[in-house]
Amino acid sequence: MKDKIANYLVELQNEQIADKQSLEQFRLKWLSKKGIVQVLMDEFKNITDISVKKELGKHINELKQKAQLFFDEKRKELDNQIDIKVEDDLTLELNLVEQGSLHPLTIVRKQIIDIFSKIGFVVSDGPEIEDDWHNFTALNTPPDHPARDMQDTFYIENTTDDITESPKMLRTQTSSVQIRVMENAEPPIRIICPGRVYRNETISARAHCQFHQVEGLYVDEDVSFADLKSTLLYFVKEMFGKDTQLRMRPSYFPFTEPSAEVDISCTICGGKGCPVCKHTGWVEILGCGMVDPKVLDNCGISSRKYTGFAFGMGIERITMLKYRINDLRLFFENDVRFLKQFKDERLVSF
Ligand code: DAH
Repeated sequence: MKDKIANYLVELQNEQIADKQSLEQFRLKWLSKKGIVQVLMDEFKNITDISVKKELGKHINELKQKAQLFFDEKRKELDNQIDIKVEDDLTLELNLVEQGSLHPLTIVRKQIIDIFSKIGFVVSDGPEIEDDWHNFTALNTPPDHPARDMQDTFYIENTTDDITESPKMLRTQTSSVQIRVMENAEPPIRIICPGRVYRNETISARAHCQFHQVEGLYVDEDVSFADLKSTLLYFVKEMFGKDTQLRMRPSYFPFTEPSAEVDISCTICGGKGCPVCKHTGWVEILGCGMVDPKVLDNCGISSRKYTGFAFGMGIERITMLKYRINDLRLFFENDVRFLKQFKDERLVSF
C-alpha cells in the first residue's frame, strides 16, 4: 500500500488542469466518494497492525491534503479567469448593476476632513452623550449663562440613585470634543471633530433636532487671529472655489474671545444678490474666534504660554450651499429620488 500511495503522489504531481471540466474530472478522480483518496481510506480501515496503520495514515493524509490544496488553488485560478467564448459579442451592453451612493453629508464631511488634513489637522472624536462639564461649563458656559438658552438641550434622565452624578445630555455642539482633547493632550493641538449634535428644535426646512457639525481647534504658542483667518480663507477657497470671498463679522460665543461669524460670497448668485443670500450677496457659514483663556485654563493648558483658535460649522449648511439644497429635512428622509442625485458614475458589472 505504501508503494501505491507513493505512485499516487507522483501521479498527482503530473496532473494538469486547463478548464472547469478537467477540474471536475480531477475532483471525481481524487476527492469524490469513490475517488482515490476515499478508496485508500477504506482500505486503511481494514489494517490491524497499529504501527503499519500509523505510518500509512501519515502518507494517506499527505496525499489527501495535497490533492485538496491542488484542487482549491486551481479552482481559485479558474474563478478569476474571465471566460470569453468566441460566440460572445463584446459590443453588447453590459449588465450593469447600480452600486448605490454616498449620502451628500458623508461626501461633504469627507471633503472637509480632506481639506483640513492637508494642513495638518487630525480627526478627533467624542461621545454623543455628554456631561454638563464638557458640553457647557468647561466651555465657559456655567449654569444660568444665557447662551445655554440658544441651544435647547435634550437632557437624559439620571437613572441611578447617585444624585451627585453630573447631568447627562445629548451634546448640542461638537465644541465638547475640544475640551476632551485639551484635557488629555499637550499643545501643539490641531484637530477637527466631525460629529452629530442634537437640539430640541421644531423640525422645519431650516432646523432639525439632529444635525452635524465640524469643530476645529488649533492651540500652540503664538497662534494669532491672522492664522485663523488664513486657515478659513484656505478652507472656503478649497470648498467653494478660488473666487470665493470671505468676510468676518464680530460676534459672541462664550468660549472664544474675540469671536466672529464668517460669511462667504453667495455661492448661488456669486454675490450679486438672490433669495438664498436674501439679496445681501453674503451667506453665513460658521462661527469662530480665539479660544478664551479661561477655557484653556479649565483644561489644564497654560493660557500664559499658549493661545489658540477655534471654529465650528454645520455640515448641512455647507452641503446645502454647495449643492443648492433648500430644505434641511431632505437629508434625513432617505428619499432615493433625492439621494440618487449624488451618485457618482461608479457602476459595477456582473
Ligand atoms: N459651537 C458653536 C455652535 O454650535 C459653533 C462654534 C462657534 C464653534 C465658534 C466654535 C467657535 O469653536 O469658535 O453654535
